Amino acid sequence: MAKQEDVLKKIIAHAKEYGFVFQSSEIYDGLSAVYDYGPNGVELKKNIRDYWWKSMVQFHENIVGIDAAIFMHPTTWKASGHIDAFNDPLIDNKDSKKRYRADVLVEDYIAKIEAKIKKEVDKARKRFGDAFDEKQFMETNPRVLANLKKIEDIKNRLYPAMENNDMEGIRQLIIDLDIADPVSGTKNWTEVRQFNLMFSTQLGSMSESATEIYLRPETAQGIFVNYLNVQKTNRMKIPFGIAQTGKAFRNEIVARQFIFRMREFEQMEMQFFVRPGTEMKWFEYWKEERLKWHLATGIPAEKFRFHDHDKLAHYANAATDIEFEFPMGFKELEGIHSRTDFDLKSHEQYSGKKLRYHDPEINESYVPYVIETSIGLDRTFLAMLSYAYTEEKLEDGSERVVLKLPPFLAPYKVAIFPLTKKDGLPEKAHEIMDELKYDYMCFYEEKDTIGKRYRRQDAIGTPYCVTVDHQTLEDNTVTIRERDTLKQERVPISQLSSIIGEKLKIKL
Ligand code: GAP
Repeated sequence: MAKQEDVLKKIIAHAKEYGFVFQSSEIYDGLSAVYDYGPNGVELKKNIRDYWWKSMVQFHENIVGIDAAIFMHPTTWKASGHIDAFNDPLIDNKDSKKRYRADVLVEDYIAKIEAKIKKEVDKARKRFGDAFDEKQFMETNPRVLANLKKIEDIKNRLYPAMENNDMEGIRQLIIDLDIADPVSGTKNWTEVRQFNLMFSTQLGSMSESATEIYLRPETAQGIFVNYLNVQKTNRMKIPFGIAQTGKAFRNEIVARQFIFRMREFEQMEMQFFVRPGTEMKWFEYWKEERLKWHLATGIPAEKFRFHDHDKLAHYANAATDIEFEFPMGFKELEGIHSRTDFDLKSHEQYSGKKLRYHDPEINESYVPYVIETSIGLDRTFLAMLSYAYTEEKLEDGSERVVLKLPPFLAPYKVAIFPLTKKDGLPEKAHEIMDELKYDYMCFYEEKDTIGKRYRRQDAIGTPYCVTVDHQTLEDNTVTIRERDTLKQERVPISQLSSIIGEKLKIKL
């Protein structure tokens, strides 16, 4: 088994063992690609959501929030293009009976060629040492050039076929590339069919009068249909943004890799309304801002990269992904899209209501252009777990698993331990907890040795552990132990709040 898969398996097992993520309806053997968050998971998730909300709404005077309903008028999805175009091409292998996204089979094939190119480059870098010029190598090495040409030829067939709904063209590409099913190893493929990813349900109790409605596949449309309500009631002036977090639903064909691709998930989206013609400036601005947000967690820059889209969605004139290096490799974490005036214009057409802005600076009315930042909360959660999960050998030869979560995102900020269960130590520990609990999530534990209690807190990422001992009763000092350095210090109880507070500051 590949090492990366091992890491993901360990993270999944750890997430379950320590109450972060459970398979949904596990006692019934689970529901595919649906997950529940446990007591520690719900805290981490809430902290990530709060960090995003603060950075958008609290730190920007021209961004406000909303909370729109999951159910929306069905015409919303006609106007947004989701009824006609929110499809994935699917293909089945007749031997393994496994279902795949046809375009992903081709993209995986491209990724294999890219890996070959990278291998060539790494080999050459080793051979030439400091004198190695990667750009020149890429432009002249015959094997690299042949592989780059191969990729270009494949993309030149895949993207137009996707664009034109040419299912036979995609199938022919799979046949021509000799792509085999990774499970059965055969090339016994069905036709390629379009599959709409939206879940539908019925609104209304009488079957004859019930209307078919959809579970929203993105939160963004709740923002677009409320554009005018928010602009008018909050007297917003362009440029301004509307932020929202909430559940979205997609009937994903291939839903694997734990909480990376789920059928029910949470998005954090912000639509930034701008004057037409200024969208590229704002697109660049939000690219930079969003990367800063990721880096402020303390995760090193080499874990992130931008991936500009070759193939643009029907609504976009520019788009990029912020990719994160998950255990399965670099994958999309967040999308930043310049959505033009597509959505508002389309809602104008379908609703017959004007969705315009009168710009007093240029004395003109127009449909605003939109820059969108869209990030999956669950995917960010997985990114955090992947980065934080660390197996360490300590100086004394013992081993520990520690979640090196950014302290401001950790489920608990401080654990408070009385050294023993007697002599008034539990009472003193509770007294300290009663002081700190209004500002910080505190964890109290008196069972087992202090060493075992430390390990349990390491495993859930608690940045500080405080031990209350007999000296505490005499001089009101405690031992505070830091998660990553393992350093222990004796400090007055009165300083605890400021020590913890200092550690939790967000520096954006
Ligand atoms: N409003 C634009 C939009 O929804 P998207 O690229 O389809 O764009 C945005 O989704 C983000 O939502 C992705 O970058 C990803 O983090 C998250 N996401 C999308 N589908 C997901 C799924 N099935 N499971 C978990 N997260 C998902």
